[in-house]
Amino acid sequence: MDVPTTLIRAVKGTRDLLPPATEVWNSVEAAARAVFRAYNYHEIRTPIFEETQLFARGVGEETDIVTKEMYTFEDRDGSSLALRPECTASVIRAYIEHRLDQRPGVQKLYYLGPMFRRERPQKGRYRQFSQIGAEVLGPPSSGSESPLRDAEILEMLATLLDELGITGWTLELNSVGSLADRARYNEVLRTALDSVVLGMCQDCQRRAVTNPLRVLDCKVPADQPIIETLPVIADSLDEASRAHFAQVTAALDAAQVPYTLNHRLVRGLDYYTRTTFEFTHGGLGAQNALLGGGRYDGLSEAIGGPKAPGIGFAMGEDRLVLSLLAAQDQKAAPLKADAFIAPLGETLNPAALVLARELRHKGLWIELGEGSFRLKKSFEAAEKTAGRIVILGEDELQSGILTVKTFATGIQTKVPRAELAAFLAEPAKG
Ligand code: HAM
Repeated sequence: MDVPTTLIRAVKGTRDLLPPATEVWNSVEAAARAVFRAYNYHEIRTPIFEETQLFARGVGEETDIVTKEMYTFEDRDGSSLALRPECTASVIRAYIEHRLDQRPGVQKLYYLGPMFRRERPQKGRYRQFSQIGAEVLGPPSSGSESPLRDAEILEMLATLLDELGITGWTLELNSVGSLADRARYNEVLRTALDSVVLGMCQDCQRRAVTNPLRVLDCKVPADQPIIETLPVIADSLDEASRAHFAQVTAALDAAQVPYTLNHRLVRGLDYYTRTTFEFTHGGLGAQNALLGGGRYDGLSEAIGGPKAPGIGFAMGEDRLVLSLLAAQDQKAAPLKADAFIAPLGETLNPAALVLARELRHKGLWIELGEGSFRLKKSFEAAEKTAGRIVILGEDELQSGILTVKTFATGIQTKVPRAELAAFLAEPAKG
């Protein structure tokens, strides 16, 4: 019976990453791992789903992420689970659960992996996206509250972006103060909003009651002139918060990391205290935040743990790759193996496999042809996939002298088998 089949496509907002683009992803990840190592960070891997409560309590009940964007589902036993929309809350949960506070010094942890938010998809914004992030936290006695930690992480990010060849980034910086400063500012905002909020969007009217700070996240164009007139958080900071922020900026100045101050940068997650930051990039269009982060001195306690001040960031890897591809004219370079081995006849297939194995074990990148191909077809296949073709016929096998053609120059060379690996390792330049 013929059943009509409909084509199944990837779910809206999700993407397949294909070669050669995956090479760019791998090189970004390798560069990030190398930088993390230099700054003494170590990898943590946490599950992709968690109890919904973790994000509700950690990220904040009133945030867009929790109210509108989280993929939440009921498990078969009735418990509520969520695909992680971010990883900071998971890292803190793991820190508490595994008593990492008992380990010496500050914990410096990094992670790479997919996150999930049901946002409206557009360029640079997906429902499954990848983050590369890091967190540094520990008991206050470990120095985790020091402004030096903030400056170190920002300097590391500037280094990483430079290393990746991302030019033209901007670091935007703010301080949202301590929890007490935030509470005070929320009251100041609530009062200021009283007289203007009726002219604002529905979301802002709700936020004005539940969490006035979130009004500053509003993207509705008509609300922007009103938001511009609201009091700024800098005026609500106490002495300690001001001094902390001044030390962060002084250390950045010393390290010559450029930044601009942005009073409205309160970030879309509730856990932030004191330093908040974003690195933006002009080439990204509307979704211009390459990465964001900040300090979260009360987060561990908010999810039931010991005092563990900390700071961290997460970088949107999809956006990072977009910026890199934009710099390289939108396309990842096509992938070409060092050589394509063409056996002349099916009886030579086993010998070709042995030769390929020999060369691969010497670190070369080899594509293997098929003996049933005519020579012309082998040449065509080889030219598309490799820099050189190695012909393996009966004569070559017996004499141990192989014929190699370098496509970039068109030159054909006879090479003894013992010298083949060294010959193929030379770049095939035109
Ligand atoms: P976030 O600002 O929500 O912060 O996300 C960090 C980065 O993830 C953004 O700057 C952006 O590059 C990327 N991103 C977010 N949503 C999407 C999306 N839908 N599609 C593509 N990329 C996206 C956090 O997640 C915090 N956990 C960062 C942090 C770590 N704060 C302290 N520690």
